[in-house]
Amino acid sequence: MEYKVITVNDSIGPVGAEISGVDLSQPLSAGIKDELHAAWLRHRVLFFRQQDLAPKQLARFAANFGELDIYPFIDAVNSHPNVIPIIKEPDAQLNFGGAWHVDTTYLERPPKATILYGVEVPNQGGDTLFADATSAYQTLSNGIRSMLESNSGIYTAKIVHGSHGSYTEPASRDSLGSAYTGDAEKAELEVDHPLIRTHSETGNKSIYCSLPHTHRIKGWTREESLPLFKFLTKLIVQEQFVTRFKWQKGSVAMWDNRCVFHNAMNDYHGEKRHMLRVIVKGDRPV
Ligand code: SIN
Repeated sequence: MEYKVITVNDSIGPVGAEISGVDLSQPLSAGIKDELHAAWLRHRVLFFRQQDLAPKQLARFAANFGELDIYPFIDAVNSHPNVIPIIKEPDAQLNFGGAWHVDTTYLERPPKATILYGVEVPNQGGDTLFADATSAYQTLSNGIRSMLESNSGIYTAKIVHGSHGSYTEPASRDSLGSAYTGDAEKAELEVDHPLIRTHSETGNKSIYCSLPHTHRIKGWTREESLPLFKFLTKLIVQEQFVTRFKWQKGSVAMWDNRCVFHNAMNDYHGEKRHMLRVIVKGDRPV
């Protein structure tokens, strides 16, 4: 597609592109929406700089791409039910999203997009890494592809948010801040999704199972499944698939959860990081 309004710089890394020429705080014309949508499908992550967004403006921007969803484990900000704060205080230890994952894959209809906005970011560190799970899939042999494609995974929030989850012990909960609800009962639900997902708009296949949210391959034990999940994660996070995004106050990242893994770095102890996040509902993965 020829872009008439936005400028797209895709030289920032293996996945993603930096977009300029658009003010996300304003309602977008149909033409700009189409350009952003096309750039997003093509580059999988869009980055914007120097935006100034109140929660309602962030939500209005996100709603250009579909119906907004409610994140089940963090209370929304007062001014908008779909916008959650992700805050790490200077003395907290644990960070939210600090492992390679795809967002909220344990929902029946996991989000197609996540949009994250930097309100206050550390001087050093706190970058987010993004990995291209489509390009990683393309490096798999036909043998492992067909084994993965003929199986499905059991996805659940319990590994992280369940009663024995990594976020649930009191010190971790405190570290994640008062908005973290960690509803252990909700976290026990399990849902069956493919291990390899076919993108509903591009038709591309991607690795979809991630260590924090996929409990096991259906019909296998967790012990049997984990080595495979570890192998796939190691494959996806190789340098040739990963872009590192350095946040500034006012930066926005919008990633395609159908084909991108991400990981929030936890390397800024003593500094605060405050983000706002919105998710856009997707289809049931196939
Ligand atoms: C997330 O996993 O959605 C949070 C990512 C980040 O804070 O960089």
